[in-house]
Formats: sequence, C-alpha cells, structure tokens
Amino acid sequence: MLLSVENINLKFGKRIILNNVSFKADTGKIIAITGKSGCGKTTLLGIVSGLLNPDSGKVFYNNKNILRWGDFRKSHFRNKEIGFVFQFFNLMPDMSSYQNIIFPALIRLFPRNVKKELNSLVEYLNIKDIINHYPTTLSGGERQRVAIARAIINKPKMILADEPTGNLDNTTAEDIKNLFIKLKKEENMSLIIVTHDKRLVEIADEHLHLENGILKKQSKQKDTKKIKAVKTVKKK
Ligand SMILES: Nc1ncnc2c1ncn2[C@@H]1O[C@H](COP(=O)(O)OP(=O)(O)OP(=O)(O)O)[C@@H](O)[C@H]1O
Ligand SMILES: [Mg+2]
Repeated sequence: MLLSVENINLKFGKRIILNNVSFKADTGKIIAITGKSGCGKTTLLGIVSGLLNPDSGKVFYNNKNILRWGDFRKSHFRNKEIGFVFQFFNLMPDMSSYQNIIFPALIRLFPRNVKKELNSLVEYLNIKDIINHYPTTLSGGERQRVAIARAIINKPKMILADEPTGNLDNTTAEDIKNLFIKLKKEENMSLIIVTHDKRLVEIADEHLHLENGILKKQSKQKDTKKIKAVKTVKKK
C-alpha cells in the first residue's frame, strides 16, 4: 500500500475537524474526496502531505510514518514523492510560469528528461502563450494549469489535488480529467482529488465523503445512479 492514513484526529479550538479519519490509497488508483465547504478537505490533504500535524493518528507512506519525520525530511519527501495542486495555487509571485513549473525540478538538480516533460505539459495544458508571464497577470484558470504542470513536472508517485478543476471551463476541465486518467494508467500514479466536479468523482476508483469530521466511503453505484438521474432530467 502506497499510503495509509490511520485514525487521524484534529481539532481547531473546540471544533472537531477530523474525527478518527482513516483511508488508504494504492498506486494506480484515483480517490475522490467530497464534502461541504469548510468541512476539512484541504486540512486533510495538508496532513497527508506532512504540511500539517494532526492531534493524533498516523500517515504511512510506503510503510513509514511521515508524521514522525523532521521538516527537512518532510520537504524532501514532498519534492520527490508528491505533487500538490493547491486550492489557491500558491504560485511564487516573483517567478514566471516557466520558473514556477520547473522550480521543483531545479531543487532536484534538473533530471535530464525535464525539458521533454515540460514541453509536453506546456503543449497539453495549452500554456505556451503565458509561459513567460507572471502569476498576477494570469487568469484563475491559467494559474490553475500552471499549478497542475508544476505538480506533475517531477513525475511524482502521488498527486494531491485540491479542487483542480475549480477555475476551469468545461473543455479544459475535461482535458484535466483525461490527463489524470493518463497519469494513472501510463505512470501508475496515485491521485487523491478533492473536488466538487462530478466528472472527477466519476473517474475515481473510490469516492470518500467527509461530513462532521467523519470520512465515509460512498458507493460508486450510488454515484452512477445520481449522474444518470441528472442526465435523464436534463434530456427532458
Ligand atoms: N489554522 C486554522 N486555525 C483555525 N481554523 C482553521 C485553520 N485552518 C482551517 N480552519 C478551519 O477549519 C475548517 C476546515 O477548513 P478547510 O480549509 O480544510 O475546509 P475545506 O473542506 O477545504 O473547505 P473548502 O471546500 O471551502 O475549500 C474551516 O472551518 C476553517 O475555517
Ligand atoms: Mg479547501
């Protein structure tokens, strides 16, 4: 098992955000996490990536509990093993799109194939025209695509994506969906996607829903029925 999140508890003040949350993610699988605004989805991704410490619980990555590591080891782990698409992008304002995207590769002293990877991402995500522009001059959707490219450039084993299609039009969101399917199939990546986008829930191998601090598995059958019902109503 690539990732095993076990019995995570977290309170902010008196409010319980995560109540004994557990889930697993294997390589080559997509997991979708849904839940109302403010329920703790971003917080959970923060814990999975070691950016945030819970009050209790464990996060095993390749059978090692990352929460016990120091900051330096955690940063190395994030750079090498995971790609994070932040909800609010977190692009470096003083760096162009190009510099933002290649930054994680730079830290790793530029593996040789990075140019090829960059070119194919730039092409796929249609960001050639804005590659030398700075984040403040970009639209939300453009920033989102740059953030996605940055998360993928190092070919991580796991992608954590927080509302990755939140700012995109239909066609571009569809492209991102297909890119995720490709990363799962061709690169055997594990993707954990926080989303409200039905399309992304549809391609997930597992759908988890967070409510009142409790993370529960949703049956995929139910999802399919719901989607079919919506489509039937639309046709009428
Ligand atoms: N550092 C913090 N201190 C106190 N409360 C916090 C902190 N970070 C987040 N919260 C609160 O915890 C709750 C969960 O936040 P989180 O960002 O995880 O929600 P979310 O499910 O990602 O919501 P959204 O869908 O709107 O992005 C929110 O009510 C938020 O205000
Ligand atoms: Mg969030």
